[in-house]
Amino acid sequence: MCGIVGYIGGKAAAPLLLDGLKKLEYRGYDSAGIAVVNNGSIHAAKERGRLSALCSLTGDGKSISGHLGIGHTRWATHGEPNHVNAHPHISIGGMVALVHNGIIENYSELKQFLIKNGYSFVSETDSEVAAQLIDYYYKRQHDPVEAVRLAEKRFAGSYAMGIVFADREDEFIALRKDSPLIIGLGEGENFIASDVPALLKHTRRIIRLGERELAVIRKDGVTIFDKDSNTVKREPVMVTWDADSAEKGGYDHFMLKEIMEQPDAVRRTIAPRIQHGRVELGLKRITEAAIRSIERVYIVACGSSYHAGMVARYAIEKYARIPVTCELASEFRYIEPMIGSNTLVIIISQSGETLDTLFALREAKKRGAHVLSIVNVVGSSIAAESEDVLYTWAGPEIAVATTKAYSTQLVLMELLAVYLGRVRGHVDERLEGELISALSELPSIIEKLLEDQAGLKALAAESYMQRDIFFMGRNIDYALALEGSLKLKEISYIHSEAYAAGELKHGTISLIVPGTSVVAICTYAPLLDKMVSNIREVKARGASVIAIAAGEEHRGKTGANHEIILPGCADIALPCASVVPLQLFAYYTALMKGCDIDKPRNLAKSVTVE
Ligand code: AGP
Repeated sequence: MCGIVGYIGGKAAAPLLLDGLKKLEYRGYDSAGIAVVNNGSIHAAKERGRLSALCSLTGDGKSISGHLGIGHTRWATHGEPNHVNAHPHISIGGMVALVHNGIIENYSELKQFLIKNGYSFVSETDSEVAAQLIDYYYKRQHDPVEAVRLAEKRFAGSYAMGIVFADREDEFIALRKDSPLIIGLGEGENFIASDVPALLKHTRRIIRLGERELAVIRKDGVTIFDKDSNTVKREPVMVTWDADSAEKGGYDHFMLKEIMEQPDAVRRTIAPRIQHGRVELGLKRITEAAIRSIERVYIVACGSSYHAGMVARYAIEKYARIPVTCELASEFRYIEPMIGSNTLVIIISQSGETLDTLFALREAKKRGAHVLSIVNVVGSSIAAESEDVLYTWAGPEIAVATTKAYSTQLVLMELLAVYLGRVRGHVDERLEGELISALSELPSIIEKLLEDQAGLKALAAESYMQRDIFFMGRNIDYALALEGSLKLKEISYIHSEAYAAGELKHGTISLIVPGTSVVAICTYAPLLDKMVSNIREVKARGASVIAIAAGEEHRGKTGANHEIILPGCADIALPCASVVPLQLFAYYTALMKGCDIDKPRNLAKSVTVE
């Protein structure tokens, strides 16, 4: 999704902005631009495509002088990805330049207003309308804060913005609602960015701008105002990520690096939550009394986070005996969810900024549910707006395809299921001890799975020319099949579908022809025999089957053409182990195909539009 960087200080702004934008490339974009204020004018450069094109155009920023500027990588929403629609957008007359993440929903109406007042437009974007509206008020008020606030009053939608003025070389404005924006505090220089990696090289002192807050950024200080123009005092937080953890660390791709980081990520997520042999989650607001009165759980998320929710559904129903419904966040608001004060809504989001998920959270709150979030990014919007939040300590995840964030979501949700089960009296001390030790073994199980990747590389080499690859499983393995299929299709572009294995014969089996590849996940021992029958069914139609089973005793028992045998482990630990070969299979298949693994086409890391 779009990225924002802004700078004011003693250094040349343009090279610094380009460097910051490079660190945000992982968010996905299709054009980029910068604007720098110098000697009473705004100097801008924009290019379609990769950032390298903009770097060539500007001699790595050296052709644009000035010490104050804003930069942007755009992921098209309004208007095609081209030079004209790229940000920054500059008002006619060149007084105001703006970068914007989000959507101004009422931009057509505002555009008509501005046209009536003599404005003309060059782009198809909502963001240009915002720049011109600010210009309209600046001409009347000649005060940047006033002008931005007056324009903002007329915006409907979501926005994170950096705004510069041609005649203000000593300050610029940052503003946000619904889309994330952070301020980085330096010595004699200050920054804004849509995400931390853009700033790590310069500062670790970060302030997250709150909802509808506006900041005036000067080189020697930052002033933040709330929506009622009161000054807000907020201490910066120290970001502890080392700069390396936001880089590739010697791997060819962030995705592989992040797959390899899973043992540590899982360990970090589990360890602080086990105290004296019990699961302790440290919930601050959702009390044990409230948990005992819960009658229904909704798990709401998108994409892989939704798949983690599907696994969690089995665990919560099994250990806590509460009915669970899993809903896609983009559908949740439109289903009239049956929510009351005895409903717990669990929101899962790696980024904590997915707009559909954020809106689902707000809907749940409006309807009076308890809202608990499982989030990776500290202080993100979803974390900030939840009644309680549990962080997955996966660290920064850069590859668009999630791996370590997904596996930490899984373990954290399993811990939550055990905790809910204990509080509600369904998990006794003995069972809790067994479940905890099964989960605690996971980091070393994953380490073992990552040691030898040759078998998966060989399978990828056999499969990468396939047009279609089907995944099937039952129970938790069905949820895993969905994740394995998503992982494969998003990075390798091979068409893939995932089915509950028993459902295949109700239609999809008509697509199985000689040579079709099927991945059969059969780690869940109680249903292994049923999976073996399903493997037979597809093999009888000529499919070539890769089976993933758990426990040496099952080797040679699946009837598949190839088998991947995981170490035997308790049901609660299985999903987190089974996903590892699925991730590696997707990774090596995409590698064989020569795909852009970390930045697959059309996808964004953080989806901040509906
Ligand atoms: C998975 O690899 C994708 N990146 C995607 O499905 C992702 O899980 C989804 O967009 C939800 O994102 P979130 O967890 O940040 O809310």
